[in-house]
Amino acid sequence: MKSYHVTLPPQGLAKSVPEGARLDHVIREAGLNLNSSCGGKGRCGKCRVVLSQSGVLQLTPNEIERDHISTELLKRGIRLACQTDIRCDLTVKVAQTSVAGEIQGVLKGIERKVEPSPFTKQFHIDLHKSDIQPHEADFERLVQLVLRENSYPALIAQKPLSKLSETMRNPTGRVTVTIWNDREVIDVEEDHVLNGCFGVAVDVGTTKIAVCLIDLNTGNVVDTEGDINAQSAHGDDVLVRIEVASSGKVEAALLQKEAVDTINRLISRICLKHDIDPRHIYQAVVVGNTAMHHILLGIFPEYLSLSPYAPTVTNALDRKGKDLNLNMNHEGYIHFPPLISGFVGSDCLANILATELHESQGVSLLLDIGTNTEIVLVNDGRILSCSGASGPAFEGGGIKHGMKAVKGAIERVTIDPVTGGIVFKTIGGSSPRGICGSGVIDCIAAMIDAGIIDKKGLFIENVSLPCVRPSKDGGWEICITKSSKDFEDIVLTQKDVGEIQVAKAAVRAGISVLMETEAVDTSQIDRILISGSFGSRIDPQSALSIGILPNVPLEIIELIGNAALEGAKMALISDRIQHLAQKIAEDVEHVELADSMVFQQRFIEALGFPCLRDR
Ligand code: FES
Repeated sequence: MKSYHVTLPPQGLAKSVPEGARLDHVIREAGLNLNSSCGGKGRCGKCRVVLSQSGVLQLTPNEIERDHISTELLKRGIRLACQTDIRCDLTVKVAQTSVAGEIQGVLKGIERKVEPSPFTKQFHIDLHKSDIQPHEADFERLVQLVLRENSYPALIAQKPLSKLSETMRNPTGRVTVTIWNDREVIDVEEDHVLNGCFGVAVDVGTTKIAVCLIDLNTGNVVDTEGDINAQSAHGDDVLVRIEVASSGKVEAALLQKEAVDTINRLISRICLKHDIDPRHIYQAVVVGNTAMHHILLGIFPEYLSLSPYAPTVTNALDRKGKDLNLNMNHEGYIHFPPLISGFVGSDCLANILATELHESQGVSLLLDIGTNTEIVLVNDGRILSCSGASGPAFEGGGIKHGMKAVKGAIERVTIDPVTGGIVFKTIGGSSPRGICGSGVIDCIAAMIDAGIIDKKGLFIENVSLPCVRPSKDGGWEICITKSSKDFEDIVLTQKDVGEIQVAKAAVRAGISVLMETEAVDTSQIDRILISGSFGSRIDPQSALSIGILPNVPLEIIELIGNAALEGAKMALISDRIQHLAQKIAEDVEHVELADSMVFQQRFIEALGFPCLRDR
């Protein structure tokens, strides 16, 4: 088979690839992050690249590329990587707008102090101080010594067992014993190892993964890192991930590996920075939505997307580090807290733990807004949950110039209703590359206030503001900023407004169903907590203006950041919290929206925007 030479500046990576290889695969294999909102299906137009002159001459754009890219930009070599098969030597630059940058704002959240009492404990034992007869078996001697520390292990894992005789006879006469759940010896090391017992809390999101390393002896955080979930190459939508993982064993294993690789990379990053041996990580607590949970555990996820949307298991699970090949001590344990339902996962449970909503009085709403929005309503201790398929629009998916909340994304927008002047702010203050969910919501809220769109979300004809113009796709659009070198003007179109209407209606209708189930009206709501990375960026006033939330006073809305990671940390540090999580999961009453006529009705009602006089 013929092969061609592909060069990827500015990194200068060069590869020889077989004829017909898909360019997006080549770029990813070279280790570059490429946006791929639709998973390479040609729907999102987010995987733009700039081809060298040879490519422009020899690779004719297809219909899909013509739909997404203007003739002028096609002439300048802009193409979609997922639509480009390599048939000549090429130099390719990933367009600045298509680099999936570092996800911002996934790490911080509310913080809770928890008394450390982890499942995994470590003891320093002096063997020579023992009065136990040396002819006794090594493990029995060890057990008797550990008994004095009030731990009662009856089991020993294979790895420490195989080296036990040598370890017990090491010249220092001391050993460090690590025990899981007072039941199983998972490590025995020579001498007294100081600072050698760590755990990781992991929040596996559809879009991003966050990892926090904790010293289990003190409960102190060592460091936190986050990155895009490598599964994102298959598309942003959780339903697409389920579809891919359900399509075959190879695909399921690939998605599992991609999530594990992302977690392992983050663990390595922290360990390297703090000079910690990952073998001293003995415990992990992993939370995530039900699909991520199933995929990570190698559970066939297909039935999550088929009515009646039943998960395979909701109970808490413990697996060995080696079962998932996690970058930790392979005899250590990974704890998966319980799930609530097919679409309300342990991340939602972790949110409840971190916010202590299970103990709250009055009426509280908790929302984790993402491609799938989880909603919890707590009414004097009674907890209801539901989930709405809000789709990828809040994370920039399906929006013409939408992007994730990474550096260069427009996150704030204001429009002067008199002059039509637009002021925007990008993440990191760098030049604009696109617009993320919070920017889109701000922009739509500003468009409502400036009289650019009406209550139905339609552009009002003949608005004479300079930012409003006819769109090349037909209809109208608002131009947020003029073009940069290899991109078009950043605009928000009629279709984009429609995408947000559908997304926000799913959330608002879910809230309505829970409120109606509990016979609660808006005036009774005491608090609305919004978690998640999107939730930490959203402007609460804009969220009210476009009607994502009920019409409550601004002051009762709290942005709580990544509370799911905080909940996972709490469960890692404290066995009491792990037991509490089990109890809360049993107490939550799940309300299924999929076949609910009330939900359908409320969804239709919520599609419009509240006009000024309604607010
Ligand atoms: S169009 Fe290429 S990834 Fe979506």
